[in-house]
Amino acid sequence: MKRQIAIGVLGCGYWGPLLVRNFRGLPDCRLKAVCDVNAARVKHISTLYPDVEGLTDPQQFVNGCGLDAVVIATPVKDHYSFAKASLLAGKHTFIEKPMASSSEQCEELIDIAERKGLVLMVDHTFLYSAPVRKIVEIVQAGDLGDIRYINSRRLNLGLFQRDINVAWDLAPHDISIILHILGEFPTAINCQGNAHVTPQVQDVTNMSLSFPHKRFATIQSSWLEPRKIREMTIVGTRRMIVYDDLRTREKIRIYDARVERPPHYDTFAEFQYSYHYGDSYIPHIQQEEPLKVACQHFIDCIETNSQPVTGGRQGLEMIRILEAASVSLEMNGAPVTFAGSNGAALIPGHTKDRPAPSLKRKRELRLGSIAGHRATRLPANA
Ligand SMILES: NC(=O)c1ccc[n+]([C@@H]2O[C@H](COP(=O)([O-])OP(=O)(O)OC[C@H]3O[C@@H](n4cnc5c(N)ncnc54)[C@H](O)[C@@H]3O)[C@@H](O)[C@H]2O)c1
Repeated sequence: MKRQIAIGVLGCGYWGPLLVRNFRGLPDCRLKAVCDVNAARVKHISTLYPDVEGLTDPQQFVNGCGLDAVVIATPVKDHYSFAKASLLAGKHTFIEKPMASSSEQCEELIDIAERKGLVLMVDHTFLYSAPVRKIVEIVQAGDLGDIRYINSRRLNLGLFQRDINVAWDLAPHDISIILHILGEFPTAINCQGNAHVTPQVQDVTNMSLSFPHKRFATIQSSWLEPRKIREMTIVGTRRMIVYDDLRTREKIRIYDARVERPPHYDTFAEFQYSYHYGDSYIPHIQQEEPLKVACQHFIDCIETNSQPVTGGRQGLEMIRILEAASVSLEMNGAPVTFAGSNGAALIPGHTKDRPAPSLKRKRELRLGSIAGHRATRLPANA
């Protein structure tokens, strides 16, 4: 009989219990233990699942429970230290989004996982959702033509986080979808926002990502909106898609709509835009819980010793974009460009001859938008 993979979930707040339920329902693994520093949260899970061991000491959980794999659903500031401890203890590791607090931390985790031959997966949940997979299929088949831009809005009242701002909390969903649809890394990021409720923690942000060939994406994130909105528009040269994740059915609608300019005209009187309004249609989508698909993918990758679709490298790409967004936020929306193929952010005004701020200074800038750290600004002429 095939040996079941022993799984443990660390962090049983809002999201952890969903991971517990999903891993527990998979046939190829056994949910062996959960851990949370808050004993009440452990008790809650133990009441629901009496056969699962409950602990409050993370060190004992990682090293003393006979786990094959650890799932980390704690606040973001602790992802790196727990993931490092887990990988060094030889456990396959699944980290909730966003992967860590800095790109240096992500690089170190990727390096340890590679050296030890372990699966490192980041939960970019939406890439496992049926509507997003359908959109990617439609785009790759060329049905939309060339993508002109993507516009995304993820808004609601709360849940306020204390250790990250709204861009780090909500935008990872949009960023992961946008990168997957466009299949490339942005060349520059702009981000503006404000902290209205908790000092230094932006609760509203507007981010834009520029891509080669004049393509761009905009992402609006807010914890301050009265209505919950989860909407993305993908505008192509031939067709357009509106994706509304809050609809129980009909989440995707494809519009056969476009605007064309006449190729030649001699006088202004002859000039007319041609508006094309065709049918709109709703593709059938087989619904499945995205988190269940993500959890199954993690188990499959462990069993087949393969790289996850959302592995450490995809987690690192995400953090590079979020870091650039934080630097741009500190500069009131000035663009932060990416240099070369390694995706390192280049802060405006700094070149090879005039180096960027030191690593420590860059970290201060980045963490400026994270609670508990004083925001530091670049000099006005930087
Ligand atoms: N993939 C998604 O769609 C999605 C959705 C929500 C949250 N998340 C992610 O899940 C993670 C957790 O978010 P949440 O909303 O559940 O947060 P939460 O604050 O509700 O829960 C975090 C839990 O971790 C526990 N904890 C804190 N420090 C700990 C420590 N040192 N050791 C052990 N336990 C500790 C807390 O007691 C709490 O129960 C975050 O990374 C968040 O970004 C992902």
